[in-house]
Amino acid sequence: MASPRGILLVALIAAFAVIHFVQADHFHDQEGFISLDCGLSPSETSPYTEPQTGLRFSSDSNFIQSGKIGRIQKSLEEEYLTQHITLRYFPDGIRNCYNLTVKKGTNYLIRARNVYGNYDGLSSYPKFDLYLGPNFWVTINMAKYAGNGTWEEIFHTPRSNSLDLCLVKTGTSTPFISAIELRPLPNNSYITTSGSLKTFNRFYFSTSKEDHQRYPNDVYDRMWKPYFASWWKQISTSFTVNTSDSFLLPQFTVTTAATPANTSAPLNHAIYLEFPTCKVFMYLHLSEVQALRANESREFDILLSGESVYDFYSPKYLQSNTVGNPSPIICEDGICNLELSKSSKSTHPPLLNALEIFTVAELPQSETDENDVVAIKKIKATYGLSRISWQGDPCVPRAFLWDGLYCSDSNTSIPPRITSLNLSSSGLTGTIAPGIQNLTHLEKLDLSNNNLTGAIPEFLAHMKSLLLINLSKNNMNGSIPQALRDREKDGLRIFVGEDEMNQCSSGSCGTKKKFPTMIIAVAASALVVIAVILVLIFVFRKKKEPSHVEATPSSKIVSRAIVTPTSISPISIETKNRKFTYLEVMEMTNNFQRALGEGGFGIVYHGYLNGSEQVAIKVLSESSSQGYKHFKAEVELLLRVHHVNLVSLVGYCDERDHLALIYEYMSNGDLKYHLSGKHSGSVLSWSTRLRVAVDAALGLEYLHIGCRPSMVHRDVKSTNILLDERFMAKIADFGLSRSCQLESHVSTVVAGTPGYLDPEYYRTGRLAEMSDVYSFGIVLLEMITNQSVIDQNREKSHITEWVAFALNRGDITKIMDPDLYGDYNSRSVWRALELAMLCACPSSEKRPSMSQVVSELKECLISENTVRRKNQDTDSQSSFELSMSFDTKAVPSAR
Ligand SMILES: *[C@@H]1O[C@H](CO)[C@@H](O)[C@H](O)[C@H]1NC(C)=O
Ligand SMILES: *[C@@H]1O[C@H](CO)[C@@H](O)[C@H](O)[C@H]1NC(C)=O
Ligand SMILES: *[C@@H]1O[C@H](CO)[C@@H](O)[C@H](O)[C@H]1NC(C)=O
Ligand SMILES: *[C@@H]1O[C@H](CO)[C@@H](O)[C@H](O)[C@H]1NC(C)=O
Ligand SMILES: *[C@@H]1O[C@H](CO)[C@@H](O)[C@H](O)[C@H]1NC(C)=O
Ligand SMILES: *[C@@H]1O[C@H](CO)[C@@H](O)[C@H](O)[C@H]1NC(C)=O
Ligand SMILES: *[C@@H]1O[C@H](CO)[C@@H](O)[C@H](O)[C@H]1NC(C)=O
Ligand SMILES: *[C@@H]1O[C@H](CO)[C@@H](O)[C@H](O)[C@H]1NC(C)=O
Ligand SMILES: *[C@@H]1O[C@H](CO)[C@@H](O)[C@H](O)[C@H]1NC(C)=O
Repeated sequence: MASPRGILLVALIAAFAVIHFVQADHFHDQEGFISLDCGLSPSETSPYTEPQTGLRFSSDSNFIQSGKIGRIQKSLEEEYLTQHITLRYFPDGIRNCYNLTVKKGTNYLIRARNVYGNYDGLSSYPKFDLYLGPNFWVTINMAKYAGNGTWEEIFHTPRSNSLDLCLVKTGTSTPFISAIELRPLPNNSYITTSGSLKTFNRFYFSTSKEDHQRYPNDVYDRMWKPYFASWWKQISTSFTVNTSDSFLLPQFTVTTAATPANTSAPLNHAIYLEFPTCKVFMYLHLSEVQALRANESREFDILLSGESVYDFYSPKYLQSNTVGNPSPIICEDGICNLELSKSSKSTHPPLLNALEIFTVAELPQSETDENDVVAIKKIKATYGLSRISWQGDPCVPRAFLWDGLYCSDSNTSIPPRITSLNLSSSGLTGTIAPGIQNLTHLEKLDLSNNNLTGAIPEFLAHMKSLLLINLSKNNMNGSIPQALRDREKDGLRIFVGEDEMNQCSSGSCGTKKKFPTMIIAVAASALVVIAVILVLIFVFRKKKEPSHVEATPSSKIVSRAIVTPTSISPISIETKNRKFTYLEVMEMTNNFQRALGEGGFGIVYHGYLNGSEQVAIKVLSESSSQGYKHFKAEVELLLRVHHVNLVSLVGYCDERDHLALIYEYMSNGDLKYHLSGKHSGSVLSWSTRLRVAVDAALGLEYLHIGCRPSMVHRDVKSTNILLDERFMAKIADFGLSRSCQLESHVSTVVAGTPGYLDPEYYRTGRLAEMSDVYSFGIVLLEMITNQSVIDQNREKSHITEWVAFALNRGDITKIMDPDLYGDYNSRSVWRALELAMLCACPSSEKRPSMSQVVSELKECLISENTVRRKNQDTDSQSSFELSMSFDTKAVPSAR
């Protein structure tokens, strides 16, 4: 389909073209126009006035931070007669974005121009994509527009006051751009019911030999081409047509018109679309140019692909009017037939002055919440971060998520929110940026391993969504504000790290003698206060969770509140990814003295690294043929991913016959063991179980959406959820984990553990994250009921059947783990039970995503703890700030 669309004939050919004298229209003096000549040197030539149009172009340098400047081949400059001989190209990063300031809610004509001109000397036409904010706009394939280049145009209404125009690398070629033009349109023209309008073509029907016309003749800078078919007859007027409606059409488009040469035939025009499935909008511009006598008339029906758009239309003399199809249509085989047929009483044939054809571009993805965008950009500026991925929309599309962020983005019609910010090891200096408090949906904040100074700000305590704060390995001073400590009782975890503590103690009492005595006194008294608080917390916890912590030496008490998570502890960082010899493994385990248990593909031994750090070492049995594959899968995964809720790899041994994986030691064993009551006879409390569930869910959520490509664990079960000395849960055993993307085909080998295995995955072999959700639902049911997953002696052998059966009888006490002795809040239990059954739904479509699971579990935990605290408050008369809102969702009734 050789569509004439898009052929760029940028400059008017002075020699042939009628010279248009620039007459600036005072009412529309380029107000709101953005005209960027990309790659133009900001100092020498910018801004300049383009002589033919009078448009003022300026350099793009203030609107983008990345990219390099190029210039089309000298010999082509004259041949192309293009105005845009410079350009900006983007060899680095996948997505590079222009940041344009616009007026929210105003409809804009947005035009991108690309003139390749062999600027890179490669004589190879680039192909890449353009995005508007988070949404795909168009693919630019220069091979289709060899020579002078192309322009793409869209009518789009930005949803915020800034608009990102992004160039996205899709293959090996380098994206580039020559010019960007934005023109605000009046808000009551070009109205559509859905989507934005991509310009397909814009004609005025005239026998004129002009190239094309634009600004200043068209105040909105629409570009018009003349078109005329040989079987038409031109009619025209020398009078002025009243065009002062919202389309503000230029005179030349409506003073001439086409009519069929055969006055009894209809006026036909066929449009051949590039993509047959496109939805189409047409705007017909009509004005009578002949003075009809009283006994004469011109009346016709307008049909588009056989559908009536307007019946008995009669154009008004010297008065322009615009008619279009009210809802988008899809043309059969991509051929849109426009037909204007004379009505029976009409004495004159139909006419048409001008025509615009658009295809609909659905831009469904909402941009990230504007406040979050402003806040994160402010944080970026505060710390002077210049990461190549930190351009364009922070959250979406997910493929271009900014490094270090996670967002909630499950529903495209709801603006995503930033839920996690990881700026660890980013060389940050100064204090904790106050802008962080404006990320109101933030759940995780990791600022560890930077050079941050100053006090821990109290505003963190008021960020209601926060669940984890990691400030370890910085140079912060002062203690954790009380308000923040209070939040720990809601499940908030704060990691400040040993560094500061050490510095404080050794700095004040030891090496750094320069400290004024007053600071020492303050620090010392602060330490006393902290110690008292810690003791209180300890006593408080002891009362609440009797005896599940083994006799703890007092040094452990200190590390309880000022902990460093194992995955970022100094030891594991130093030794991370270390390769060990088999000899070393033997030494570590003291010749495999103490077995901790038997895992999927080998025995797990206890060991010491450097004689002090406890580790768990899985030695793969030599007989296991599958072993090496799983070993490699696990090493590769764990070297790539790091998350506090995933067991971290300290090292590995890969000798010919000896394979071993060395993990951080999880002193409290696995969840199954705790549920079985074998652990010194004590039982995990309901709120601890919920916390364990949140931790494990966070680990899985990270695998699913935090990793790129996303991973599926494939063997989620209660024995693969391990607990550290503080009962923080971590997911283990990644031997079966797979990347969904790499395994997008249907796999013939279905792996997993019976009882936990997703029946749909079992049936179809199609691997997806939802299979982990199913298994997680089973684990949740285990935590709630403490029943075996499969028990042949039970009336209903599978746990889901058993729970469904018990639920039908509406007996919650029979469902709950009897070892809890009713010590739980039934509201949170019901919610957890509902969630577990939803996760274990046989149809994967009905299951929630891990992110939804996480947020629901958190609410369960908050609701459980709130009730608990309320009860304690009335007991102790102490006043805690109630910072969490209580969920008012009704208690689900038994079904
Ligand atoms: C985007 O442009 C606006 C206005 O020009 C500016 O305030 C903002 O800082 C820019 N953002 C970035 C990331 O450059
Ligand atoms: C580029 O455009 C100019 C002016 O319209 C034309 O003379 C020239 O032939 C075009 N060049 C190519 C390679 O298409
Ligand atoms: C339409 O635009 C005018 C100015 O151009 C503005 O005052 C008005 O509020 C806009 N109307 C809507 C509905 O946006
Ligand atoms: C031009 O048309 C507009 C409506 O589109 C009308 O309000 C105005 O009065 C007309 N002007 C003249 C001079 O007829
Ligand atoms: C003119 O159009 C009518 C109706 O389509 C047709 O019947 C007739 O043959 C045409 N005349 C000529 C000369 O083509
Ligand atoms: C209209 O009336 C004029 C005379 O006033 C006559 O010459 C002409 O033929 C008529 N036109 C039609 C189509 O009847
Ligand atoms: C997304 O949210 C909208 C509005 O809240 C809702 O109507 C729609 O059903 C949701 N879609 C999905 C897939 O959840
Ligand atoms: C947070 O946002 C509000 C309004 O959105 C703004 O007034 C305030 O300055 C912001 N605070 C910080 C610290 O950026
Ligand atoms: C902190 O700053 C010092 C020098 O000011 C530098 O040597 C050190 O690497 C920095 N640490 C981090 C974690 O950036």
